[in-house]
Amino acid sequence: MTQHLADALPTSTGTQPGWWREAVIYQVYPRSFADSNGDGMGDLEGIRSRLPYLKELGVDAVWLSPFYASPQADAGYDVADYRAIDPMFGTLHDADAVIREAHALDLRIIVDLVPNHCSDQHEWFKQALREGPGTPLRERFHFRPGRGAGGEEPPNDWESIFGGPAWTRVPDGEWYLHLFAPEQPDFNWEHPAVQDEFRSILRFWLDLGADGFRIDVAHGLVKAPGLPDLGRDEQLKLLGNQVLPFFDQDGVHEIYRSWRLVLDEYAGDRIGVAEAWTPSADRTAMYLRPDELHQAFNFHYLNTDWDAEALRGAIDDSLDSMRPVGAPTTWVLSNHDVVRHRTRFGSLERARAAALLMLALPGSAYVYQGEELGLPEVTDLPDEVRQDPSFFKANGQDGLRDGCRVPIPWSGEEAPYGFGTGGSWLPQPAEWAGLSVAAQTGDPASTLELYRAALRIRRAHPALGAGDGVEWLPAPEGVLAFRRGDFVCTANTTDVPVRLPAPGTALLSSTDLAEPDLLPADSTVWWQG
Ligand code: NOJ
Repeated sequence: MTQHLADALPTSTGTQPGWWREAVIYQVYPRSFADSNGDGMGDLEGIRSRLPYLKELGVDAVWLSPFYASPQADAGYDVADYRAIDPMFGTLHDADAVIREAHALDLRIIVDLVPNHCSDQHEWFKQALREGPGTPLRERFHFRPGRGAGGEEPPNDWESIFGGPAWTRVPDGEWYLHLFAPEQPDFNWEHPAVQDEFRSILRFWLDLGADGFRIDVAHGLVKAPGLPDLGRDEQLKLLGNQVLPFFDQDGVHEIYRSWRLVLDEYAGDRIGVAEAWTPSADRTAMYLRPDELHQAFNFHYLNTDWDAEALRGAIDDSLDSMRPVGAPTTWVLSNHDVVRHRTRFGSLERARAAALLMLALPGSAYVYQGEELGLPEVTDLPDEVRQDPSFFKANGQDGLRDGCRVPIPWSGEEAPYGFGTGGSWLPQPAEWAGLSVAAQTGDPASTLELYRAALRIRRAHPALGAGDGVEWLPAPEGVLAFRRGDFVCTANTTDVPVRLPAPGTALLSSTDLAEPDLLPADSTVWWQG
């Protein structure tokens, strides 16, 4: 009945200019999406072949995590050549085919840009090492002499996010800065050649048809002058309320203003999305001023527990912060760096309810591959198969990141469940046979069909998608209720059913709604009312 009502709503509003204000953007992690050549590693041709699945799912755009030439010290976030595809993922021709076919399906493609650091195998870094201390090519990175009598101590006390000092010494005695792994030297963004090079890289991908960029470590490019010591025990934090000399420095905004000029040279609403871990939602909003980027990930929301009060606070705070700059709020529950939200929240019921709550909020939403299948984190990977260089130490990101990167199941009873014809680079659990796309398709109780229905309603319902506020309705403790025009969303975050007069006719429910005025435990319901 629920789906019947949804089908009666007007059909697609289409993707208009400003598409990104309400887009649902699906994150593909190329290693783990679909493998076309049986080598156990996902690739671009695999992605191309599955675009119709994404179209049918009902998303508007696809963000592809890095597929560039890379030694894979950090799963591709260590880029050796920003204009080349790693052979493990295919060729430039394959990338072109993905973009073209996506466009033919009216899907947009966002590519991942990694400007804070490159790979130690990048030509510039190799040249800098060859040319030696004091040479101009070293100035494109942060090379410094060490401290102490023989220069044996790192130039300052910063630590890498992956653990250990943020500096590595090279044989000639100098040290270079890397906020992440030693194989990921940080660029010196004061250097004009670095600035020019990245504007050129933007153009390269825009010319190829990319609809935008997800900007890795967007808050890290500019470091405080003189690279001052932190001078305290507390070290790197991706998220915190402290001001750090390597994150969220005001100078980054000049870079994004210059990038916006490049994006605006191109037709078709090309966008920049900041991965910016900042001390507050207000600081994040600064990246989204009208002459800077378009969206930023909402990590404050991602780090919020399944708790009505906390969620309402995060929702209000996010909407309030974006309003003054006129940017859409974004929402995200999972990505390739964090424990999957089904496992974080503790149950599939909560994961489904959280998804419906997120998709009802005003703005744009991100869906991480496999969450539409209700995949849990894989928590028992043997140490020998793990590939994550280390782990984030910050809030909500404790733990190794391979458990959310296991290749997703498409079909069949045995691993690799249609992921490819060979194996899979990380082993998939036996229970995933029942979670595959094929197993869930057509089953109205499945999580996949819940996402499909939600995205269909979201696309069709005039009250959903873009917007900058919600009207909160009175609700019992532990329950969230808000109105957007003639649409109402209720979310019961408690583990017991809660009585609440039905605010209208149910459109969709994350758990079976036996009685319209009894909200099931850990559920979200969408209402026409
Ligand atoms: C954020 C990316 O999402 C993560 O996977 C990566 O390790 C770091 N940035 C460094 O590039």
